[in-house]
Amino acid sequence: MTPAPAAVVVLAAGEGTRMRSATPKVLHGFAGRSLLGHAVAAASELDPDTLVVVVGHGRERVVEHLAAVAPHARVAVQDEQRGTGHAVECALDQVPVAAGTVVVTYGDVPLLTGQTLAALVDRHEQAGAAVTVLTAEVADPTGYGRIVRDGAGEVVAIVEQRDADEAQRAITEINSGIYAFDGRVLRGALSRLEADNDQGELYLTDVVRIARADGLMVATLVLDDPVQTEGVNDRVQLAALGAELNRRLLTQWMRAGVTVVDPATTWVDADVTLARDVTLLPGVHVQGRTEVAEGATIGPDTTLRDTVVEPGAAVVRSHVQGARVGAGASVGPFTFLRPGTVLGPGAKAGAYVEIKASTVGEGSKVPHLSYVGDATIGAGANIGAATVFVNYDGVAKHRTVVGDEVRIGSDTMLVAPVTVGAGAYTAAGSVITEDVPPGAMAVGRARQRVIRGWVARRRAGTAAAAAAALAESAAEPSGPPSTTADGSSSGVGQTAPRSEGSSP
Ligand code: UD1
Ligand code: CA
Repeated sequence: MTPAPAAVVVLAAGEGTRMRSATPKVLHGFAGRSLLGHAVAAASELDPDTLVVVVGHGRERVVEHLAAVAPHARVAVQDEQRGTGHAVECALDQVPVAAGTVVVTYGDVPLLTGQTLAALVDRHEQAGAAVTVLTAEVADPTGYGRIVRDGAGEVVAIVEQRDADEAQRAITEINSGIYAFDGRVLRGALSRLEADNDQGELYLTDVVRIARADGLMVATLVLDDPVQTEGVNDRVQLAALGAELNRRLLTQWMRAGVTVVDPATTWVDADVTLARDVTLLPGVHVQGRTEVAEGATIGPDTTLRDTVVEPGAAVVRSHVQGARVGAGASVGPFTFLRPGTVLGPGAKAGAYVEIKASTVGEGSKVPHLSYVGDATIGAGANIGAATVFVNYDGVAKHRTVVGDEVRIGSDTMLVAPVTVGAGAYTAAGSVITEDVPPGAMAVGRARQRVIRGWVARRRAGTAAAAAAALAESAAEPSGPPSTTADGSSSGVGQTAPRSEGSSP
């Protein structure tokens, strides 16, 4: 186990002009975190005594964001961007102790892992080095600082592209910009930096030259996964690194026992948890702090955000946010579950259903085309098709309570606040404005009127009139038809008696 460093410094003061954005660069992101969020998550894995983020451009927004995602981080303000060396100097004002290891990393390098930072600290402390530089061999080193070694292979300097001569530009070992320093050496060297370079900046890289001049050891950790050191400078790199992180996350989950049918169209955020034998079908987005338990099937074409899906549940072609889907429950297709939705074990939110701030009890079903808002539904209930929980009076929201084993007839309007007692029924098409006692049938609709011959009189000459005439002439000579459609098993919650008050 790596000992915790005294400090980790995350540099994030730069402007990021190539993003062409009103939003500071480090607040752009992917996989459910900002770029800075990824950087501080990796840094926090080292559990440093002090975590300092250097802010400058857009600092009000960056500081506000930091307070939300990493309240343990301290903020150092660099008003003017006078170079990476100056940025670290600003940071060290926030670090109470002089001694110990100080790690420096960037806020715009999102794929760097905590594991790599730990390996860097290990190498640094085992070597007893003054500085340890994280480097990589790359095919195209353009733009990076080059690692200059002497005949014995020891690092003597880091030279920026713009300050390098022909021979130095040919070097393909690059400086990632990520280092572990001896805190005392770092403080001493920073005070000796000079801006005698092409940009007139104080270069942190010059600490290497100073350490060597003082006869101190400079070590390296050569990373064989250069993507981890790549920074985001524009939106093309943002998309490319976002896709790469997604591939890496999916690979980890597949190795852990998750089936991902189509990795190319499946997106999983960094803070998601997936259990064994979860299946993600094509077009699935699993976002935020979502947890999916063993054996659940998600998709196709489904978004889960900050949601818990319990074992064996299935969510098909739906959008689910801030919800809990119980064990073996089923959702969708085309369903929208909003924050505060809790589906009990074996419950169903079927096709074209929207649910908000409601509990649907064990085994209860909302099978078709309904809105359920601010409700508590007991166990074993059935909510007929096209039922609406009328929760909003134009000013305030009100709650509805539906008891165990209730049968709500299709197209019922439950006007909140209202309670339907256990085992009660409502008639299809009812508007329920008063509480229904347990076991009662509530009918709240107009009686049907039949006006015979209306079409022949009022719509003469239409196709409807012709069809009606044909049906009547066919019926007249041979008496009533032999089969009567009684419509008693429509399957969509027709719980009303066909003729009120006359049921056997
Ligand atoms: C730096 C390194 C270079 C390395 C490269 C890796 C120096 C002099 N050069 O170059 O060797 O190969 O990173 O990407 O260090 N920043 C501040 N304040 C400043 C200047 C920079 O906070 O005054 C931050 C930026 O926001 C950015 C990081 O430091 O996150 C790097 O700065 P940048 O100007 O991009 O350095 P490079 O020129 O890329
Ligand atoms: Ca850079």
